[in-house]
Amino acid sequence: MQPFFAQRFAKVEPSFIREILKVAVNPEVISFAGGLPNPDFFPSEELEVATAKVLRNKGNGALQYAATEGFGPLREYIAERYRTQHGLQVSPDNILITNGSQQALDLIGKVLVDEGSDLIIEEPGYLGAIQALSVYQPNFRGVSLNDDGPDLAELDALLAEPNHARLMYGVTNFQNPSGLSYSLEKRRAVAERLIRHNVLMVEDNPYGELRFEGEHLPPIAKLAPENVVLLGSFSKVVVPSFRLGWMVVPDWLRQKITIAKQASDLHTNGFVQQVLYSYLQDNSLDAHIDRIRTVYGQQKKAMEQALLRHCPGLDFTRPEGGMFLWLKLPQHLSAMDLFNLAIKENVAFVPGRPFYVRPDILNTARFSYSGADAATIEEGISRLGRVIQQVL
Ligand SMILES: Cc1ncc(COP(=O)(O)O)c(C=O)c1O
Repeated sequence: MQPFFAQRFAKVEPSFIREILKVAVNPEVISFAGGLPNPDFFPSEELEVATAKVLRNKGNGALQYAATEGFGPLREYIAERYRTQHGLQVSPDNILITNGSQQALDLIGKVLVDEGSDLIIEEPGYLGAIQALSVYQPNFRGVSLNDDGPDLAELDALLAEPNHARLMYGVTNFQNPSGLSYSLEKRRAVAERLIRHNVLMVEDNPYGELRFEGEHLPPIAKLAPENVVLLGSFSKVVVPSFRLGWMVVPDWLRQKITIAKQASDLHTNGFVQQVLYSYLQDNSLDAHIDRIRTVYGQQKKAMEQALLRHCPGLDFTRPEGGMFLWLKLPQHLSAMDLFNLAIKENVAFVPGRPFYVRPDILNTARFSYSGADAATIEEGISRLGRVIQQVL
């Protein structure tokens, strides 16, 4: 057979992070590359109870095909949580359960992205979004992410173009990869521009509940509900293996997104949705999240202090939640070169280049603190400090 592929797949790259992770699996390596949720917090015993309960109480009924939109009680739980946690009025009808929030990105691409159309994305931006949306061949337009959110002058310049983007993607809380969040002022400014320029924002928020410092801020979806698709996920607050996420879809888009979901996979695993719902009924998600974010806060502090001690003068972000921080090396240093040296000292991170759609920035790197305890972080960063001394 002579291999052949669809045109649209020609430019889709394998995930650079997965390639890096292959190098980092060696048990000698202290890896800050992965960015996985800490498995110590996976509630396996509670999920075992929930699984047995669903099978016992519902029998074969738990194993049948189910609604495309998702398990009704789970959608109601999510809507109720938005109301109590964020004062956000969301109807369960507007919630579509997806196979992780990653699937939501694919559905958005299917329904809303024409080949060659402009699509605004933060730089650095979430690699999984770049990958998922690339399949639909948009023309990515980067907007620099400043410490308090997207650079408004750059955003305004893009929105002043005659056929400007109708779609924008951003992570408003503790972004992957940078750890940065939008300030309240930036949220308001972006919401105002979405409405004025008739742009739809995909507001991806898998980390928002993992705040360990500061005050919760309203999602942009609260400020411009018709102009935002809000994404959420249970991956970082319960378990990633269930692949359970959701999207909050404005009325005008609901039917088309539901059809796209139906065409993709009919529905998300119904049994797993019921198990998760049963777990949420019997356990306090708030108490569980409190435990996770307390530990992530301690790990972030350990990494911050180790960086100050072992890599003095280096610039890095100070996230108030989530799992990542972002390092800026001096301009003349390449993070990829540093990675190649660091891996010889058995320490790994992710060089920043693939997170840019204008790939001319070489001196940044992503570090995840979610998976390592304070002593491991101290040892890993001290190794990094020694490597940096060699190249400065
Ligand atoms: C910003 C962002 N969006 C989406 C995802 C995908 O998450 P899920 O497991 O819900 O598909 C991730 C996972 O790391 C992420 O960092």
